Amino acid sequence: METAQVLRMKAGHGEESYAQNSKYQTAYISETMPVLQLALLDFCSTGHLPNCVTVADLGCSSGPNTWMPISEILSTIHRRYREEGRLSPEFQVFLNDLPSNDFNDVFKSVSEFLKKMRDENGADFGPCYVTGVPGSFYGRLFPEKSLQFVHAASSLHWLSQVPPELSVRSSKRLVNKGKIYISKTSPPEVADAYLNQFRRDFSAFLKSRSEEIVPRGWIVAQLRGRRTPDPSHEESCLLWDYLGKALQDLVSEGLIEEEKLDSYNAPYYEPYIEDVQAEIEKEGSFILHRLEIISIPWDGVNGGQKYDRAKTAEKMAKAIRAVNESMLQNHFGGQVMDRFFQRFSEIVAADTKEVEHVSLVVSLIRKS
Ligand SMILES: C[S@@+](CC[C@H](N)C(=O)[O-])C[C@H]1O[C@@H](n2cnc3c(N)ncnc32)[C@H](O)[C@@H]1O
Repeated sequence: METAQVLRMKAGHGEESYAQNSKYQTAYISETMPVLQLALLDFCSTGHLPNCVTVADLGCSSGPNTWMPISEILSTIHRRYREEGRLSPEFQVFLNDLPSNDFNDVFKSVSEFLKKMRDENGADFGPCYVTGVPGSFYGRLFPEKSLQFVHAASSLHWLSQVPPELSVRSSKRLVNKGKIYISKTSPPEVADAYLNQFRRDFSAFLKSRSEEIVPRGWIVAQLRGRRTPDPSHEESCLLWDYLGKALQDLVSEGLIEEEKLDSYNAPYYEPYIEDVQAEIEKEGSFILHRLEIISIPWDGVNGGQKYDRAKTAEKMAKAIRAVNESMLQNHFGGQVMDRFFQRFSEIVAADTKEVEHVSLVVSLIRKS
């Protein structure tokens, strides 16, 4: 099954929503700002500044994080035009996500966003036109050479599908016993299958954007990734191990069948920094401007300062639930979700490990 059919962040603004449980992702957006600012500086300093700037955010979701990078991008460009003694450009903002994203919520918050931009930047800001674009960023979404600045946060680690070798439809299926992602006990072929799926997807992403972005246009993207070559390192696997352990407990409790657990794998991959660089070079349409590692403390979801393991575990469970529940529910059924996330929280609280969450930030310039 394609990820597009089952991945959906928890909608709305309720206690369980993605909007209220996306502190990790907010921290990543903040950590990405220096690379974003450098890219914007360069974007604004190269030759002719257009009268209308087209910006796209890919995997925008809904809630405060949808607007955070966009407001930074637009405010910076607006300031730069002013410094050049020019009128503010018009802005065309495209917000992309999979079709089942809570676009209604996004659309309802457009006028508030525009008001905030005028309040912060002056009444001469814009005009700014906002458009929702449903579809997968692993294919074409926009006309040729129509985008100037593309941003993506916490979205490119989602694969278009579970690697086919792990699919129940494969005649020689790889079985990742008792696990739902790469782990120390997975057969080595599991990590190879994930890497190959990432390579196909990331290169399809770059190819599509290379057709849509104007020469000298930009991509700034942050995705979960590795600073270590070992694909089963705890930095990228520990949370998935905890989730697998919670599912094993549900099997022991007779709430789900073992076969159900063995046939579930996450459509997710954290690439090694060199894998990302190699794919960019191989695809060939972009100049690599920056590729950096950022990290946030293991309890970043709980402020990253006060050590309160049980509270962190509870918040971590809510954050992971807001992102993953649609997929888990589709496979295991909704009736076991409360018990599953309770077990996950208990397992995290009972452990003593404090493993940082690592991401990669890449900025790219479309070759002329
Ligand atoms: C964890 S959220 C990140 C949202 C927001 N950018 C942030 O930083 O908080 C990941 C988003 O990427 C979207 N996504 C995943 N795969 C996608 C694809 N192939 N095409 C478009 N959006 C995708 C998901 O639907 C989800 O809304």
